[in-house]
Amino acid sequence: MSRPDDALAELPALLTTVRLGRVHEHHEQIGSTNDRALEWLGAGAPDGALVTADAQTAGRGRLGRPWSSPPGRDIYASVVLRPGAPSAGFGALALAVGVGLREGLVAVFGAELSSLALKWPNDLLLGGRKLAGILCESRWRGREVELVVGFGVNVHRTREEFEPSLRARATSLALHLPEADRRGRATILAAVLHELEGTLERFFAGGFPAIRARYEPHCLVIGRAIEVEQPDGRRVYARAEGLAEDGALLARPDDGGPSFRVQSADVWLR
Ligand code: BTN
Repeated sequence: MSRPDDALAELPALLTTVRLGRVHEHHEQIGSTNDRALEWLGAGAPDGALVTADAQTAGRGRLGRPWSSPPGRDIYASVVLRPGAPSAGFGALALAVGVGLREGLVAVFGAELSSLALKWPNDLLLGGRKLAGILCESRWRGREVELVVGFGVNVHRTREEFEPSLRARATSLALHLPEADRRGRATILAAVLHELEGTLERFFAGGFPAIRARYEPHCLVIGRAIEVEQPDGRRVYARAEGLAEDGALLARPDDGGPSFRVQSADVWLR
């Protein structure tokens, strides 16, 4: 990839944020940017500190799943956040990050990405396939919370560069955009961090209600028939009715039972 704005070393020149990414550590290769950010958090990393990598050898997704991370193709990034003692709950953090990521990508690519959808709780889907994923991890220090927000965005990968098991389910920006409209990873990441910064500020002040209007119109799940895989492995067939004030998914089972809240389960569209 010869585009100068593809090199993440170019990020400082492109940043428009006040906090996010102003302290930045880039690695050619690392196990997981989330692991490194958690380690750095423990060693006193400042709010907004950013870890990026060109490749991950142990990239992690939700529920301990691996995150495929070949060299130089995608964005692998983790941000340290120190919001203090949040005035609202932060259970919907992944939803807020999804809003920031989506708006950052739309800011760069405009109408071409207007169909970019948010699949509750932590995926961004393009044409029904996964373009990006989010992994939020938290720790408490007394009454204050410390967070690492990690995200991976598939940027340059061709169909063949996805593992065979992912080919039918994953996509990249390159697979959707004509060559002339493509952008480098540093340009994309700078726009994402810009949108993320404003979105997180509103979220930490007002919780999910403060970003609900920017989430719901793009949420792929509401009103749809879903299959919920509970943490204990149980599967429930239901209809997604909406989102609670704290971002939990409200679902009504097909068997006529009472509506229930989904907080950390896997959700599939049927
Ligand atoms: C998911 O969809 O399950 C979440 C995927 C999150 C992947 C990113 S890539 C950068 C950061 N480092 C990791 O090890 N994971 C996240």
